[in-house]
Amino acid sequence: MFGLKKRRRGPPAGSGLLCSGAPAQPPASWEEIVCGYGASVDPAEARAQAGNAAEAAFFAQDDRLATKWHHYLEIYDRHLSRYRGKPVRLLELGVFQGGSLQMWRRYLGPQAVIHGLDINPGCREITEDGLKVHLGSQADPGLLRRIAEEMGGIDVVIDDAGHISAEQIASFEVLYPLLAPDGVYIVEDVHASYWPDHGGGLRAHGAFMEYAKLLLDRLHARYVLDPDPFARDPGFADVTHGIAFHDSMVVFEKRLKPLPRSLRVGHRTLS
Ligand SMILES: C[S@@+](CC[C@H](N)C(=O)[O-])C[C@H]1O[C@@H](n2cnc3c(N)ncnc32)[C@H](O)[C@@H]1O
Repeated sequence: MFGLKKRRRGPPAGSGLLCSGAPAQPPASWEEIVCGYGASVDPAEARAQAGNAAEAAFFAQDDRLATKWHHYLEIYDRHLSRYRGKPVRLLELGVFQGGSLQMWRRYLGPQAVIHGLDINPGCREITEDGLKVHLGSQADPGLLRRIAEEMGGIDVVIDDAGHISAEQIASFEVLYPLLAPDGVYIVEDVHASYWPDHGGGLRAHGAFMEYAKLLLDRLHARYVLDPDPFARDPGFADVTHGIAFHDSMVVFEKRLKPLPRSLRVGHRTLS
């Protein structure tokens, strides 16, 4: 319409950056993708070459089965190394065979309070010395609140359960506000956010990745000029230090922040 600026359609400038070409046809299924990346390792060799303590803890696992993507280990270590040897309270959503909980014990040390939650009643048998497994759904807010209370608070959440976007969001909405003010919330396998049978799809409404992108906007709420007060609500930003997006993993770091300060030092300016 005359006098109105036309909104430009299409991707923003620069989004073609570093394109290298993709096959004309997408993969037939997510199973095809995941199977394509399956790899086996020699644990002894991997242990000897471990590049960080999380890798060392993972490759030392020789009891219950644990499954992790290799590159997650470095990311865990980056965000969780400060908790090693401390009475950290960790909740893992999705226990599977229990190997991951055992790995967290090895990595974090004897003082850590480690709980897991799984929908599979068979996981009951995993509760053993120092590990506690709760049965139920990650989408049950009452259960999540009871677990947080029993744990006396939570410092670290690792969501590796159903990988259904709506369930990941349901867990996050309950647990993130309950997380310690300097806690860490890790959502794994967010590649499932791109799969319709997991409640996702590329830029699909309701996909966890879209939710995380909205939270990225909310982290910058103070700087938004939009008339919508919700877009400028600083509540999430006030308690969030950062959001790290990695391949298939999103990490939220909580921190009670003072108001941002724009600082200046030095005095000489261009003549
Ligand atoms: C990928 S496995 C967990 C792997 C484990 N964290 C590891 O690293 O070895 C996913 C687990 O989540 C559980 N699960 C699926 N949907 C769930 C839900 N809604 N609530 C809780 N657990 C769920 C499954 O029973 C399964 O054991």
